[in-house]
This record gives sequence, C-alpha cells and structure tokens, in this order.
Amino acid sequence: TPNMISSLTSLGFEVHVQSGSGSASGFTDDEFAHAGATVVSDLPSGLDVLLRVTPPTDDAIALVRPGGAVIGFLDPATAADRYQHHPDRHFVAIEAIPRTTLAQAMDALSSQATSAGYAAVLLGATRLPKFMPMLVTAAGTVAPAKVLVLGVGVAGLQAIATARRLGAIVFAYDIRPETKEQVESLGARFVEAPTQEMDEGGYARAVDEETAAKQREVLAAVVADSDLIVTTAQVPGRTAPRLVDRSMVEAMEAGSVVVDMAAGSGGNVEGSQPDQEIDIDGVLVLGPTDLASRVAADSSRMYARNLLEVVTRMVVDGDLVVDPNDAVVGPALVGGGNDE
Ligand code: NAI
Repeated sequence: TPNMISSLTSLGFEVHVQSGSGSASGFTDDEFAHAGATVVSDLPSGLDVLLRVTPPTDDAIALVRPGGAVIGFLDPATAADRYQHHPDRHFVAIEAIPRTTLAQAMDALSSQATSAGYAAVLLGATRLPKFMPMLVTAAGTVAPAKVLVLGVGVAGLQAIATARRLGAIVFAYDIRPETKEQVESLGARFVEAPTQEMDEGGYARAVDEETAAKQREVLAAVVADSDLIVTTAQVPGRTAPRLVDRSMVEAMEAGSVVVDMAAGSGGNVEGSQPDQEIDIDGVLVLGPTDLASRVAADSSRMYARNLLEVVTRMVVDGDLVVDPNDAVVGPALVGGGNDE
C-alpha cells in the first residue's frame, strides 16, 4: 500500500510497483508514484526482494537476483517443490512465521483472519431477513438475532466482537478450553460442549469420532435456535472438522443463514461449498473464500505492515541478510536456497 513506500525507501530500497496492483483495494498508481515508488507495467529483473500476496510464477521468480528473496503467502504445503527449482533464491512463507509475541506484527494469518471474521458477520447480517439488534419501535418490539460462532481463534473472536457490536445475542464454542474466558470477556456465552488441551504449538488437535459426536449432540440444540451461524474451525494441515451436519441445518428456521469460513478446506458444515450459496430446507449456507478481500483496503494495509516488518527484520546495515538461524524468519524459509 502507498503508506509503506517511504518506510521501504528509508531502508534503502528503490521500490517498483506493478501498475494496477492496488486498484482492487482502492489504491491508485498515482498514489504509489506520489509516495515515491516507480510504477511499471513490467517489473525489472535483478530484484533484491519481491513482495507478493500469492505464490509467484516461475517467470516472476526469475526477476529476483540470485541471493534475493520472495516474501508472501507462498503456500509451502503444496508449492514448496517448485521453489526447490530455484536454489539460488530465498523464499519466505509469511504464513509459516512463528506466531510468537516477538513476531506479532508479522502475523499475516492473524491480520487476514481478523478481516475475514469481521466480513463473515457482515455478510451473514446482510443476508439475514432480520435485524441484528433488539429494536423497540411503534410498530412493535423486534427480538435481537441469535448468532453462534464455532471456532474461537482470531477470526472467531473478531466475529463475536462484530456480532456483539451489531447488538446480537452471541453464543460461541471452541475445542480449546481457554477460549471460554475470551468468549465471556466479549459478552458472549460459551456453549459447554467437550473441550480438550491443544498441541505444543497452541493449535487445536483433531478430535476422535466419539468427541465429535458429543460435540454435535450438544451443539444441535444451539444450532437449531440460531439465526446466523459463523464457523471458523480449522486444524492446521488437516481437513476442517465437521461440526454441523445436514440434519442440524435442517432443524434451523427457514431464512436462517450459515457462513462456513472453512468451506475451502473441507467445511465445518455438511453441504457447504466453496464460493457457493446452497439452500438447505430454506437455510442459506454460504462458503465464501474471499472474505478478507471484502475489506480489501484495510486487509491490504495490515498485510503491507506485516510484510514491511519482515523486510525490516531482514535488512542489516543496508544489506539483505537471509539468516536461517533467525528465530522469526528461519522457520518461514522454504525450498530454494534454504534446504542445503
Ligand atoms: P485456526 O484458524 O487454526 O482455527 C480456528 C479455531 O478453530 C481455533 O481456535 C481452534 O481451536 C478451533 N477448532 C479446531 N478444531 C475444532 C473443533 N473440532 N471444534 C471446535 N473448535 C475447533 O486458529 P487461529 O485463529 O489461527 O489461532 C490458532 C492458535 O494460535 C490459537 O491458539 C491462537 O490463540 C494462537 N495465536 C497466537 C498468537 C500469538 O501468540 N501471537 C497470534 C495468533 C494466534
């Protein structure tokens, strides 16, 4: 984003921006140029650093000088093999930066999950044929909507906060026991389904089928009584856990809305499909995978800040230093020249 250009130039970089890069987020070429960047239709070769949102093509990698670095969401789980073909470049997968206090400002998973959780609730609210808040009007009193948030990580917390701000009554559940206090501190009620301790990385573990069945049994009544459900549950490296089956959706009132934020990774809700709107017995089941893009300007500003922090950490006395032993950047290095 344009507001980051001067920070990059003061680190010693000459910044080139591909024309049109910011247009979908509302940032114009003129703003980038005004901020001190050179706007080009074709990026020059010999780049020290290439900053991206998505994994680069081989042609884009070729623009980076030997010893230079590509930084962005590089999808190491599926694309790492490709980076092996470029042993003289470095690849920093921002999604693999450890989620420690030290690296908080570089945590792009969290910044984008914040946007997505917020956008999920707004999407659901606009599709719901009801008000979110309680209203007392001359035409009668309107009851507040009931919202259920399943999975209380970064996105879930933001979903709860957003639904609360809109005046809904909010219920929430997560498999990690410490989320109960977080849920209650946001003014929502914790659903007492089974919980279990997380792994050493602070992430949820997959649950066994017996626990999953118990979860669904407890959740069924709350699901049936909800106007809007937002599901965010993920287990890193695995298919998303199934928390809501079809019969639970069918038990919801017609006109209710379900936003399955895990639709792209297997779905928390039976019947949801990535980027599709499915009608199950009058209940609208949405599976958007572009939620962060729905608040594109702020998602981009936060992501740009995450990238700037990574770059700043990698510049020492004006030189780019890729240190595999660095506690923050080291674990995020994939393929390329990092596996020797
Ligand atoms: P995520 O996107 O991997 O998963 C979302 C939520 O789904 C998690 O809260 C998880 O516990 C929950 N979940 C998984 N399986 C479930 C099931 N079967 N039933 C119900 N809920 C289920 O999570 P996210 O948002 O990426 O956060 C993951 C962890 O990282 C959290 O513990 C969070 O507190 C921690 N974190 C730490 C940070 C830091 O220390 N700087 C920054 C960001 C996150």
